[in-house]
Amino acid sequence: WISDKHNRKWAAFPKVALGSSNGTIPLLGFGTAVFPFTASETMKESILHAIKLGYRHFDAAAVYHSEGPLGEAIAEALRLGLIKSRDDLFITSKLWCSDGHRDLVLPALRNTLQNLGLEYLDLYLIHFPVSLEPAARYDVPFKTEDLRPMDFKAVWEAMEECRELGLTKNIGVSNFSCKKLEQLLLTSKIPPVVNQVEISPLWQQKKLRKFCEEKGIHVTAYSPLGARGTAWGSNEVLDCEILKAIAEAKGKTTAQVCLRWVYEQGVSVLVKSFNKERIKENLDIFDWKLSPEECHMIDQIPQQKSCDGLVFISDEGPYKSVEELWDEKI
Ligand code: A2P
Repeated sequence: WISDKHNRKWAAFPKVALGSSNGTIPLLGFGTAVFPFTASETMKESILHAIKLGYRHFDAAAVYHSEGPLGEAIAEALRLGLIKSRDDLFITSKLWCSDGHRDLVLPALRNTLQNLGLEYLDLYLIHFPVSLEPAARYDVPFKTEDLRPMDFKAVWEAMEECRELGLTKNIGVSNFSCKKLEQLLLTSKIPPVVNQVEISPLWQQKKLRKFCEEKGIHVTAYSPLGARGTAWGSNEVLDCEILKAIAEAKGKTTAQVCLRWVYEQGVSVLVKSFNKERIKENLDIFDWKLSPEECHMIDQIPQQKSCDGLVFISDEGPYKSVEELWDEKI
């Protein structure tokens, strides 16, 4: 009942090519990191609603416990004929730190695929540039004494193997700084095609975006609205007076201005909502644009990061300060 209209919409949905692979990534995706991390029926229903409205890119992670609800929503969407095949979707998931060890990567991806009920991912990411003792499993918060340095070369070799086996079409990273990407690129045979990081008008990441562009690494933005309601989020983005003023003048919402701004930077944007109206509202960013004056105003917004990564900092662990984790002042 929905497919013709929505398949047309899907065909028109903006996408960009990913690295040297033949694939593309839809520039707007649906996030599933809802804190505290638990699977829920609401999540499944929200994802199904998003598929009905035309979202085709979904971002999960082992640690979010969102792979199960996402898999159920995909199965139901297929049953209902909302999508013709699994290939209509772009599905990302992430390797959690406790699986960040050479021999645990492949079993972790197989487990992820089982949770999702899928045969392959479109994108598999290293979630953070740090490992945890395997016994820490997916428990959050974890104990800082379980933090370990990640052996990028060994873990990346296992990621490459996952791609070679066809279990994921693309491999990439998340929360990597320029310095850590450089280190990974030194030994990688298959370079990462994506770096997924926090980006919003309040944390614009100009230097990292430029570096990634030069290296042919596509950037995906998480927490474009500041991840209100999570342990790492805040209201600062949606309460920003400059963004509110632009939204009011344009007859758009502050959230739409944020999403449009991120989209105009050429990066893909992940947004999450469990509210039907807002899921729809967040799609409406493609047929209007920000003026040069509005972009200039956004450029002037004082910068502050939401996701500080403090949980990864400890005197005994690989990162003793947030500056060491992000390789910059935050
Ligand atoms: P809700 O699920 O009630 O819509 P981010 O994508 O940066 O992680 O932000 C997610 C948070 O922003 C959630 O709390 C979500 O709440 C809220 N949110 C999502 N879309 C909108 C919107 N269009 N307007 C206001 N808040 C939004």
